[in-house]
Amino acid sequence: MKLRHTVVLFASLCLGVGAAQAQFQKPDDAVKYRQSALFLMGQHFSRVGAMAAGRVPFDAAVAQENMAVVMTVSQLPWAGFTPDTQDVRSRAKPNIWTERAKFDEARQNALNSIAAMNNTVKAGDLDAIRRAFNETAASCKACHDNFRN
Ligand code: HEC
Repeated sequence: MKLRHTVVLFASLCLGVGAAQAQFQKPDDAVKYRQSALFLMGQHFSRVGAMAAGRVPFDAAVAQENMAVVMTVSQLPWAGFTPDTQDVRSRAKPNIWTERAKFDEARQNALNSIAAMNNTVKAGDLDAIRRAFNETAASCKACHDNFRN
């Protein structure tokens, strides 16, 4: 039931504050916040990936549960990329703040891919899920190649 705890934790963390408008006490908190969200997103995304790659048996219910977390958590990291975090040590490249439109576009591409992948997971066709997973992974990589050290 770890998955459910994660969802409840995030739901309560976001309660009363529009998740995308999260406010931070200090730049360190913003960095910790975005890294935590990205870490969780990565964990749940790779659980579906393991099924897509055939490393673990496909279980439609588990895949859907994981994708539901990815759908929610993928909304969160971006609010943590505030300009005042540029001096905090992290893997974020400085061009995030000089090429913000490009960064936002990369984010939107990934969110679109995640939404499309979520639909294939709901439909349950493993071949389609595999293709959608690869497309989403490519959209993650596209941003990492440009904006992550
Ligand atoms: C718009 C850009 C962008 C997209 C899209 C993106 N990432 Fe990232 N990701 C980053 C940046 C920048 C960092 C480094 C953040 C930092 O160190 O503060 C990062 C860090 C991470 C980390 C490390 C988190 C940690 O523990 O510190 C993981 C895992 C990760 N991303 C997974 C993913 C996955 C999976 C996807 C696609 C579903 C994805 N990312 C999409 C920009 C992106």
